[in-house]
Amino acid sequence: MVKQQQATLTRVYPLPPFWAADFALAHPPTPGKFVLAELGGALREPLYPAGLAEAQFTTLVRPHHPVTQLLPGATVDVLGPLGHGFEIEGAQRLLLVAEALWLPPLLPLLEAAPNVALVIEATTRALLPSPTRIPPAVELHLITQDGSAGHLGTLEQGHDNDTPLRELLPWAERACFACDPVRYPALARLVRETRLHPGADFAQALVQMPLPCGVGACEVCRVMTRHGERRACVDGPVFDLLALDVT
Ligand code: FES
Repeated sequence: MVKQQQATLTRVYPLPPFWAADFALAHPPTPGKFVLAELGGALREPLYPAGLAEAQFTTLVRPHHPVTQLLPGATVDVLGPLGHGFEIEGAQRLLLVAEALWLPPLLPLLEAAPNVALVIEATTRALLPSPTRIPPAVELHLITQDGSAGHLGTLEQGHDNDTPLRELLPWAERACFACDPVRYPALARLVRETRLHPGADFAQALVQMPLPCGVGACEVCRVMTRHGERRACVDGPVFDLLALDVT
């Protein structure tokens, strides 16, 4: 049965390029799962945890998101936790891969394994998060499409036909991705090129999209996979990356 809870906003503040909102919530979602929040619009909004603590979570949203209009102390009706999240239990070497603007749901995993490598791609330096916000134990690799910071190129390909992922994918025991879903087929092909027999749970990809009902009723969140059509709200939003390559 879907849980209905009351979340209380304790703080909202700019954290460029995002806004951060701290909520007190008895049962917060684990990484990759979400709650559906009633924020006054026509549809509920999915909120993913970008930081977690006992009975509270922080979510990062884009500027002008309805959460940024709330005042501290506001009570928000939420459904959830919902969905299928990241599964990394037991991994010693964890690889996190994100486009900068899609990164927040991976942030709760930065200390989820003894060895964590994080690869972030942005079009330009100004869109990268400050390295001071990343724990020093995390091995950080930056990629910019204009070469203004880190490696020049994209997640899939550097300017010299290379990318940090070619070394890090064979190193990792689990890899979690948070990108625009249009990138996933090419990233799945890169996984296949660099790993001989990647298991079904090796590469896990979060598909972020509108999730109006969250319970499999409206069919707005259909995702095509190698196993047929799936619904992001109940079968995901974390999927096997390799199953998302339907080309
Ligand atoms: S959000 Fe309605 S079916 Fe998934």
